[in-house]
Amino acid sequence: MRILVTGGAGFIGANFVYYTLKNHPDYDIICVDSLTYAGNLSTLQKALKSPRFTFYRQDIRDRDGIDAIFQKERPDAVVNFAAESHVDRSIETPELFLQTNILGAQVMMDACLRYGNVRFHQVSTDEIYGDLPLDRPDLLFTENSPLRPSSPYSASKAGADMLTLAYFRTYGLRATVSRCSNNYGPFQFPEKLIPLMIANALEDKPLPVYGQGLNVRDWLYVADHCRAVDLILEKGEPGQVYNVGGHNEMRNIDIVKLLCAQLGKPESLITFVTDRKGHDLRYAIDPAKIRAELGWEPQTPFAEGLKKTVRWYLDNRPWWEQIISGEYRNYYQRMYGDR
Ligand code: NAD
Ligand code: TYD
Repeated sequence: MRILVTGGAGFIGANFVYYTLKNHPDYDIICVDSLTYAGNLSTLQKALKSPRFTFYRQDIRDRDGIDAIFQKERPDAVVNFAAESHVDRSIETPELFLQTNILGAQVMMDACLRYGNVRFHQVSTDEIYGDLPLDRPDLLFTENSPLRPSSPYSASKAGADMLTLAYFRTYGLRATVSRCSNNYGPFQFPEKLIPLMIANALEDKPLPVYGQGLNVRDWLYVADHCRAVDLILEKGEPGQVYNVGGHNEMRNIDIVKLLCAQLGKPESLITFVTDRKGHDLRYAIDPAKIRAELGWEPQTPFAEGLKKTVRWYLDNRPWWEQIISGEYRNYYQRMYGDR
């Protein structure tokens, strides 16, 4: 099996590369990533030593470049992780999100069709369902919930998700879609909630909680997401959508307090800042379908996953210190400077 992974130098893509190298000794992996601010080749340092791993610095929006890689590598399957992934940045520059997340996905699907209907998996998100009210814990997103994206990020992901299903129906592309909840774990870029709070706390900087910190996310350890994508590739049925989540809803403020406790830092570092525009209140996934049809269950309880994650950031300071000392400083100043 030759599997082409886009966005493999980012958070979940890299975790998927390592998961696959470890669990499928018979697979070759071809990684395609343009190395945007969020992509980091040092993340793939160990993978690059494997004879089963090949890396291409390539933008998925570039048809000729993608075509040349398909021509040479002849993949059996494609997993599309490549995306602009941060909601706050999508509020600043929506256009880039539409280009990469929708048109880039289309380029990948066209290439799959041209090279013999290559199996395609689109990594989508629960954010395409919009949000749920805080006072209705009984409501969960199912695969049949209406799509009501709130941010340019989630709208662009909804576009790619719908296009994938349209390519299945119109052209018979052998495609599946997974809609996962918030991930956390090693190699997550420190602009996202958990690693940002860990990095700031370790440097005794303020911990900027949006609004009152009452928004709820449904957190899943990244390895559990990787296993879900792997299972869908192996056993999923083309044309199907699978929700992925672990029934692990947490309020932002509670996560930040947990992190303070684990890092031995005072809660007085917590600073409430102006809320995000259009901020989704609550996400919560019903994973009944993937459990019943593919036998997937999350394996990492949140307490254990969070401990592992904190340990990873403590043990890998050079990885994130190098990130926050670069261009990220300008972003941080723009986003949090006088918030
Ligand atoms: P990330 O931002 O950490 O990584 C994205 C990667 O894509 C980077 O390596 C970047 O260089 C690459 N990339 C961006 N634009 C590209 C382009 N035009 N061509 C080639 N490569 C490009 O993102 P992530 O958190 O790892 O998310 C991966 C995927 O999973 C995304 O599609 C995201 O929507 C989805 N997802 C993320 C979460 C989450 O909690 N992080 C949850 C559900 C779904
Ligand atoms: P984030 O990690 O950006 O993921 P998403 O918005 O895709 O769910 O944010 C998770 C939650 O944490 C979200 O409700 C926004 C909030 N948040 C903060 O309160 N402060 C921050 O500095 C960041 C980055 C996020």
